[in-house]
Parts: sequence; structure tokens; C-alpha cells
Amino acid sequence: MRFNIAIDGPSAAGKSTIAKILAKTLGFAHLDTGAMYRCCALAAQRCKIDLEDGDAVAKVLGHTKIDFDASGNVLLNGEDVSMAIRSNEISMLASKVSAYPQVRRNLVALQQKIAAGQGYILDGRDIGTVVLPDAAVKIFMVASVKARADRRYKEYVEKGISMSYKDVYDDIEKRDYQDSHRSASPLKKADDAIELDTSALNIEEVVAAIMQILKEKG
Ligand code: C5P
Repeated sequence: MRFNIAIDGPSAAGKSTIAKILAKTLGFAHLDTGAMYRCCALAAQRCKIDLEDGDAVAKVLGHTKIDFDASGNVLLNGEDVSMAIRSNEISMLASKVSAYPQVRRNLVALQQKIAAGQGYILDGRDIGTVVLPDAAVKIFMVASVKARADRRYKEYVEKGISMSYKDVYDDIEKRDYQDSHRSASPLKKADDAIELDTSALNIEEVVAAIMQILKEKG
């Protein structure tokens, strides 16, 4: 049976990592919607657009093609930007451009079109509330700021990205605030979403918990 799964939650909660593993296990496709907002931010930055101008940022999307290849690499107008969009600067800019309703309208429409065929796992902030309000299963993944900062800092160290723990922690708090206080589709748990606190769980335990939820949903 084909259906869609929505995974929402704050930054660095592990949504994409978990969504990728689940997609592989279930034979679903994975769509990382955060990567799309990150591409928008990178494209606007490269075009030297005034990032305070929502209309100008949205216009950039008119000549920007965002794709994912079979290995999950993120392509911006054909160029692999998988690494470039993960910088801390682009994380903060993505949070900024994602607050513009014009940008959201454009990317939400694209996400809905992609997921129309069912059999998708989408992760983001507004999947259960806006993009796929009819998703069969909705998970809202949360974790303490400390747990998320610990994970993100470890990831940066492994990737050789130099950033202090305090800056990682502060940026997570700042993005949490921006993402949940914007007026356009703020980060919010859908009424029918199941909340999963992953603070004390490892990746295998989170995957097992979601597999259990799917089993119970039948
Ligand atoms: O999930 P990720 O951290 O890659 O998302 C980058 C930014 O894009 C988030 O901080 C958030 O502001 C925005 N975003 C969004 N809606 C989504 C996915 C991401 O607003 N569905």
C-alpha cells in the first residue's frame, strides 16, 4: 500500500537521518524539504539578492531548479550543492528566507507535486500541518536543545567544520525561535501528529519507535 509519512520537528532533531533510513527500510522515497529552503538561500546569496526583500528572493526560484539525484545528492541548477548548503551560514539564511510566504508558496507547491504519487517520506517543519495535511502518518520529532547541539557539534567535528560548541548551541536556539515565531507556517505540531522525544534515544531506537508506530497504525 502507498501512503505518505510526514516528519516534522525543530532543527537538528535528526529528522533527515531518520527519514533516510526509514525510506530505505520501507522502500519509500525521501524528500528533504529543508534542503529546498537551503537551496533557495544559496541561490539568492549567489545572485547577490537583498535577503531582506522577500519578493526578490522568491523571484530567484523562478530560474532555480532544485533536484535530488538517485543517491540523495542535492542539485541546484544541475550542480551538486549537498555540502555547500550545510554550512552554518546557509542554515541561518534558510531559516530567514523560509519565513517569506512567497518562498513558501513556491516550494510547498513543488513538494506537494512531488509527493502526489504517494510512497514518500517528507521531513521539514510544516509537512503535517500544510504540505501534507492528509498524510497517513505524522511524526513530530523533538529533542532538548542540549541533545541536538551535542549531535550537531559531533557531526561538525567529524566533518572537520570548525565551530565552537557554544555557537552551535546558540544557533540552534536562534533557529528554533525564528522557525516557531514566524507568521507563515511556523513550526508547530499537527493535532494528529505523534510526538517522539529523541533526546535519550540513539538512531536505531528512534527508527524502532517509528516502525512500532507504523505497525500500530496498521
Ligand atoms: O531541516 P533543515 O534544518 O535543513 O531546514 C533548514 C531551514 O529551512 C529551517 O531552519 C527552516 O527555517 C526551513 N524549513 C521550513 N520548512 C520546511 C523545512 C525547512 O521552513 N518544511
